[in-house]
Amino acid sequence: MSVSLSRYLVEQQRERGAITPELRLLLEVVARACKGISHSVNKGALGGVLGSAGSENVQGEVQKKLDLIANEVLIEANEWGGHLAAMASEEMETIHLIPNRYPQGEYLLLFDPLDGSSNIDVNVSIGTIFSVLKKPEGGAGVSEADFLQPGTQQVAAGYCVYGPQTTFVLTVGDGVSMFTLDREQGSFVLTQENVRIPKDTKEFAINMSNMRHWDSPVKRYIDECLMGSEGPRGKDFNMRWIASMVADVHRILTRGGVFLYPWDKREPGKPGKLRLMYEANPMSWLVEQAGGAATNGRERILNIQPKTLHERVSVVLGSKNEVDLVTKYHLGS
Ligand code: AHG
Ligand code: MN
Ligand code: MN
Repeated sequence: MSVSLSRYLVEQQRERGAITPELRLLLEVVARACKGISHSVNKGALGGVLGSAGSENVQGEVQKKLDLIANEVLIEANEWGGHLAAMASEEMETIHLIPNRYPQGEYLLLFDPLDGSSNIDVNVSIGTIFSVLKKPEGGAGVSEADFLQPGTQQVAAGYCVYGPQTTFVLTVGDGVSMFTLDREQGSFVLTQENVRIPKDTKEFAINMSNMRHWDSPVKRYIDECLMGSEGPRGKDFNMRWIASMVADVHRILTRGGVFLYPWDKREPGKPGKLRLMYEANPMSWLVEQAGGAATNGRERILNIQPKTLHERVSVVLGSKNEVDLVTKYHLGS
């Protein structure tokens, strides 16, 4: 008998006490929004959704049409349910308050509406990443400061990958589960529970074109992987780089591996490329919940106290023994 996401969530609430009814509604709504985004992604050129929107976001990146469509779908789906206090997105400079005409809830939702934008027009896997926090107790209204909580405070996190299959991946702190979209039924069906990342791997993911800009611990780690069975690692490594974090993390949750988007010398003032609150935190929690690890090269990502909504971070995540080795190289230098 197949288990739908709805049933899974009801059981998480009723039998395991892992989520509240409001959080269950929130997750249902996010999954429904992802279904809508999946539909637009699938239409591609037929839906007129490809190409640039002709605008830039707060990080100075050119916005694609689908970045904005996905952002709108998530906002519209989540505004009226009464479960949210506010939302924040890669594509919006400041937080999005719930309009006065709707009731307000106690949760805060953060998202990267469309991850892997450079892959949209070339028909390669892309995704949506989300993180859920609780609004701190006390204080009327909601402000950006309410969002600035370390990743350890997340109450739910996940992503949806729009690839050959559309897969919704979720943690509420009780392991990682995967749900595949059944287009005939129109619902997500549980296809893997208790996802585990092997501790060791022979596969790394990094954008090698940045090699000359890397810091020495990263260079050392990758050099040693490249030396293969004749080098200090004593085994041959394979490499993958999809340039959609969702797709790279999905591979790592499925068969292991290590993913690095480290700080580099191109923009030394920035801690990295990826955003802490709606890319690194949700992915780090998923990876930890599956037995892997996630650091910025020096400390656990989930322990970082965010200072701003769009702050960036250096990311090393995946199979535990590899992440530990990269972290050791950083701390030793
Ligand atoms: P986004 O499309 O949300 O801006 O994120 C893209 C990110 C991430 O998904 C991916 O791992 C990385 O950028 C790829 O960067 P490079 O093009 O520098 O390899
Ligand atoms: Mn992204
Ligand atoms: Mn994005």
